[in-house]
Amino acid sequence: MDGNGNSETPELNAPRPRRIAILTAGGDAPGMNAAIRAVVRSAAIAGIEVIGFRRGYEGLIRDLAEPLDGRSVANMIQRGGTFLETSRSPEFRTPAARGLAARNLKRHQIEALIVVGGEGSMIGAAAFSAETGVPVFVIPASIDNDIPGTDYSIGFDTAVNTALEAIDRIRDTAFAYERVFCVEVMGRDSGFIAIAVALGGGAEAVIVPEIPFSLDDICDRVEDSHRRGKRSTIVVVSEGPRTGGVIPVAEALTARLGMQARVVVLGHVQRGGAPTARDRLLASRMGAGAIKAILDGAGPSLIGEDRGAIVRVPLSEVATQRRPLDPSLIELVHQLST
Ligand code: F6P
Repeated sequence: MDGNGNSETPELNAPRPRRIAILTAGGDAPGMNAAIRAVVRSAAIAGIEVIGFRRGYEGLIRDLAEPLDGRSVANMIQRGGTFLETSRSPEFRTPAARGLAARNLKRHQIEALIVVGGEGSMIGAAAFSAETGVPVFVIPASIDNDIPGTDYSIGFDTAVNTALEAIDRIRDTAFAYERVFCVEVMGRDSGFIAIAVALGGGAEAVIVPEIPFSLDDICDRVEDSHRRGKRSTIVVVSEGPRTGGVIPVAEALTARLGMQARVVVLGHVQRGGAPTARDRLLASRMGAGAIKAILDGAGPSLIGEDRGAIVRVPLSEVATQRRPLDPSLIELVHQLST
């Protein structure tokens, strides 16, 4: 295994494909454009044509195909979002729609597919590949960073830095007014963003979907910190039904402390914007790693980063896993906010 996409995934000795496809699926993430650019340009060097499908799996079903060349990806590396557009496609969960998608790929004589997307897109890619035999390579891109098989997914670093910039501003006014702020960050099903933001922003408490919590405990913690002389407080909460969002937390703190806790919902601000240097580098290396995997005749894989090296992990292996959150990081948030 080396830092450029070579690893132990079994290779199938397939002949080099002449044409491949790429799409971006699920929630967009800053750095997706940089990944498409790396794929298209690495493929061009290897003499492989690339067809882009717009709007994720939906575009694969509806055949929204367009050829991409080196010029189509010019001036893209710094742009947030995805110029290929994306969607969440409930239809792709049905074998009938996946069959349609496979027929479209066949008609365009496409021999491999690169999916740039998050956990749900990766699971869809694994099912599609297993069912149709199309070799699919997944480049993990999601601000949530909840994809197994990789230490980082494209977009996470940018989203965390965007949220931290907001937290730093909130901290200024929280300190000046001796206020309590409850800040909601993205991550409906996973708390990687919340924990990174809470740790990096020096929050007093953090609530994530994976770990049960009690509002009473959160109130005790904040009350305690006030007793110890702290006058401003930041509590970070992951959005979504599993945590209940930021409002009940602010209401509980308001009732307990007798002062109005302020609410900030960062929302989709965290998903947009220019990718950070880290995300651009990761996207460029993963994009090139995907083409290397195809040239090596590797089986369907996730192109991940493992302790700094670009690696391939069989899709069938990662599709059944969940990426666990390290609960000791919540303890660290508490420890460092004393
Ligand atoms: O999966 C990425 C993500 O941005 C989550 O962090 C967030 O909870 C969710 O998507 C929001 O989804 P949507 O923008 O489709 O409402």
